Amino acid sequence: MKALKITQYGDIDSSLAFQEANVPEPGASEVLIKINAASINPIDLMVMRGEMKALKKLNLPVGIGRDLSGEVVAVGSGVSQYQPGEEVFARVGEDHVGTLAQYLVVDATHLAKKPENLSHEEAASIPLVGLTSYQALIQVAGLKKGEKVLIHAGSGGIGSMAIQLAKAYGAYVITTTSSANVDWVRKLGADQVIDYKKENYLDLLSDIDVVYDTLGQQYTMDAFKVLKRGGRVVSIAGVLDPLTARELGINWFFRKLIGLKSRPVLKQAKDKNAFYRMVIMQANGDQLSELSALYRDKIISPVVDKVYPFSQSLAAFSYLNSKRAKGKVIISLNSGD
Ligand SMILES: NC(=O)c1ccc[n+]([C@@H]2O[C@H](COP(=O)([O-])OP(=O)(O)OC[C@H]3O[C@@H](n4cnc5c(N)ncnc54)[C@H](OP(=O)(O)O)[C@@H]3O)[C@@H](O)[C@H]2O)c1
Repeated sequence: MKALKITQYGDIDSSLAFQEANVPEPGASEVLIKINAASINPIDLMVMRGEMKALKKLNLPVGIGRDLSGEVVAVGSGVSQYQPGEEVFARVGEDHVGTLAQYLVVDATHLAKKPENLSHEEAASIPLVGLTSYQALIQVAGLKKGEKVLIHAGSGGIGSMAIQLAKAYGAYVITTTSSANVDWVRKLGADQVIDYKKENYLDLLSDIDVVYDTLGQQYTMDAFKVLKRGGRVVSIAGVLDPLTARELGINWFFRKLIGLKSRPVLKQAKDKNAFYRMVIMQANGDQLSELSALYRDKIISPVVDKVYPFSQSLAAFSYLNSKRAKGKVIISLNSGD
């Protein structure tokens, strides 16, 4: 079978190459999937560039890609919940990364049944961004009906899903985007859209219940300027906090460094009697099944920007790397080239 691999750390053209590989066999708790579509995410680029080396050492070459939609081919001896022929989707676990391949084995607990009303390309757009926003907004921030949430970068892969999820939970959604995308994010359900090319959200907002920080850096610190006292900032691109670091099993030395680096953000939080957590999303088939129902009932719609054939995967990564995607970038393994 054909698989796209990271062969060395670096940029897209020097790191990624198609290689031939054997079709893997599922272990007892695993499922072998024939992949129809995959989606790509900024984390794939970060791993490719070697930016995650300190957290996890890889033996190159390794596969790339964490989202898939496809068909069950075979199941391990301990798997009873899936049968060959069933259509499934997943954000695979970090031990199974490599969805840009014709076949992949996946931990059965990371799978969910694909919503029947969605194509494989649409289904593949959901798992990583869906689970991230569910874990950040619902599980960690505990977003409630009627609360005001600021979602930065509403037109991105994360933002376009998060706007719809927050609306589904009854929140009042404020988002930031560039001029060209203002009407588009309003149609996704945002109640208030701030065009960051023309206006500064810091001048317009106050008393926000929850800030979803998808941009990091100065945006993390500035979140507290628009937050109400006792509000919650949940970041997916900001500064790792000591509690999350401990939950991730990061060693004592790195936790000390994280403690120092997070001090200014935690001080801002303390001054405002606020909550701050960084969320590192986890693969979770049960939560994906819950999300699946929202897509099946058309409460949330998948947002696919571009679909590339497998052979054009490097062009797909270049587009993602532009940071201008409107929704998700998908790779179809069905297109025959
Ligand atoms: N911690 C985790 O587990 C986790 C999980 C998933 C993602 N993430 C992180 O979350 C971030 C977002 O991911 P993504 O998949 O949404 O990325 P993405 O799809 O590449 O984001 C692109 C979007 O960002 C918007 N954007 C860029 N700069 C902006 C700004 N200053 N203000 C408002 N919008 C801006 C762009 O809109 P315009 O063209 O209109 O500017 C574009 O639509 C990434 O840093 C990613 O690494 C973390």
